[in-house]
Amino acid sequence: MGRKRRAQQSSQPFVQWTKENPAHEEYYRLQLGLEASELAAFLGKLREQLPVVFRLNPSEPRFRHVLSDPTRMPVLAGEVRLAPVAWYPDELAWQVQTTRSVLKREESSKALHSFITQASDAGLVTRQELVSMLPVLALDVQPGHNVVDLCAAPGSKSVQCAEQLQGRGLLLANDADPERAHMLIHQLHRASAAQVAITNHQAQFFPSLGSFLFDRVLCDVPCTGDGAMRKIPTKWKTWTERDAFGVHPLQLDILTRALALCKPGGLVVYSTCSLNPIENEAVVAAALKRRRAELVDLEGLFAARCPGLRVRQGLPVWKVLMRDKSATTPTEFFEVQPGQKVNGFAPKLTCFPDGECEALRRTVRIMPHDQDTGGFYIALFRVLEQEDTHVPEEKAARKGPERFVRLTAESPEYQELRECYGLSADLSPRQLLSVSESLKSKVFYVNRELADFLDQYLDSRLAFLSLGVRAFGKNREKGSKELCSFRLCQEALPFLSSFVTSRRVESSDQGLLQTLLRDRTIDLETRVDLASQLQERGYFVMRFTCCTPAVELVLLRHPNGRVSSMASDEDSAGLILLLGL
Ligand SMILES: C[S@@+](CC[C@H](N)C(=O)[O-])C[C@H]1O[C@@H](n2cnc3c(N)ncnc32)[C@H](O)[C@@H]1O
Repeated sequence: MGRKRRAQQSSQPFVQWTKENPAHEEYYRLQLGLEASELAAFLGKLREQLPVVFRLNPSEPRFRHVLSDPTRMPVLAGEVRLAPVAWYPDELAWQVQTTRSVLKREESSKALHSFITQASDAGLVTRQELVSMLPVLALDVQPGHNVVDLCAAPGSKSVQCAEQLQGRGLLLANDADPERAHMLIHQLHRASAAQVAITNHQAQFFPSLGSFLFDRVLCDVPCTGDGAMRKIPTKWKTWTERDAFGVHPLQLDILTRALALCKPGGLVVYSTCSLNPIENEAVVAAALKRRRAELVDLEGLFAARCPGLRVRQGLPVWKVLMRDKSATTPTEFFEVQPGQKVNGFAPKLTCFPDGECEALRRTVRIMPHDQDTGGFYIALFRVLEQEDTHVPEEKAARKGPERFVRLTAESPEYQELRECYGLSADLSPRQLLSVSESLKSKVFYVNRELADFLDQYLDSRLAFLSLGVRAFGKNREKGSKELCSFRLCQEALPFLSSFVTSRRVESSDQGLLQTLLRDRTIDLETRVDLASQLQERGYFVMRFTCCTPAVELVLLRHPNGRVSSMASDEDSAGLILLLGL
């Protein structure tokens, strides 16, 4: 989340919502068959705020050492405790034993709050609800896979997929809402973004890609979110059983499309942060009738992958419950029959169970009171047969304003970049793209797998909003006519550094690194040693060998003899945290 939005949120007065809704309580008593004591535990937990949880970025193992080092961590007082979640693989999920509002409010824990915020802004961790991490764990994304996340914004699961790909394979992160899709660009730019393309389509009409099918499809659909009441307390007031009937048809259409986009033998995960069978089991059962796929047993999968995690089997049968206007109490539900209208509304036939469907026991529901989380539902499909993936052209029509153009060995931009930065021949111009012919102010870098994909699909109906990582931007330095038109971007260094053979300098001076990270700029007059290395104006890569692995910064030497670091505030703060500078 951007700093501006965060500031706006934190200035909003804290509202104490009334966390009561008798209809919601009665609905879940009837629907999930909860005993009185369990119903009380369930509702009691839903009324509490969520604990603070974050996932470590596995590509930065040094951060785990920071978390385990009491000399590097803010001092925690009293009740506040920070520890890895026992059942999450490889100790990658960490939980603060307190709520977000306590963390922000109490003096003793404010330092920890700002520590986590800095780590999150620098991409060292992703703040994500624990249960929301489970669909990607189930999906078993492996390096080299082709993955599509059909409803991706704000992007925490896409980041998780990208982390698991480890730079190999490709990820299309899609969202129907253009504004929310743009949020993905920010969220994903740190997560091995060279393999990520962001697209903007309605998932149910996601264009056919001919013979190209995905190994993994993530389908975290829009839902009523009644499992997320701990995070969104307004739901206590607004909840009604009708909402689920409203989203069910779209959820089914998206899942149907997801199954069609996946290759035989590949996996599709379906998830919602709702506990309602109308959005969960009913959608899964109807999709199984439409497509050749089988459900994978998630209880067994999680028992093996996340020992200690408690999940509940999906329901083989459920009720379609509604209230009507003539009811004497607001909690008077009755069971609707297929085709029956209530106050002029009849739920879709796919909302109803078709007898007992035992296979649904392979899906799982995570209840908030089982391990202090939000509520969630997950189903995992293995696709058995390829189906016709065609969608009508007008529905999948390209909407995006961005046009990406691939550079070639002859492109003047490529020639200039080669000359200026000594780009080695190992970097294929196929992996560099600019935005539209007339606006060649940015150049993006994509990994080989995404470059291969774009060979076929760059000019297809796919509406790309962003491709790979920003590698070069327009050089806007004053009086820079004689310099290279492009500046090298810090965020692309992890990918491009090995191709940059000129304009490189090295230092083993930790003090210099610290100054550049903290003050962002130095005067060469005070650093004679550096002045001899940075005689030319323009952009350089400086490699600091005082840390392991070495740290690299893009530096700009100005005409007035000053040198600035091009690392963002967030990245600089992240490096300071990581290296203890
Ligand atoms: C539950 S949220 C996804 C959360 C996301 N997977 C994450 O982990 O950060 C659902 C998303 O679906 C998007 N959406 C709504 N209708 C859609 C549609 N027809 N096709 C694709 N995305 C849609 C919404 O804009 C929203 O961002």
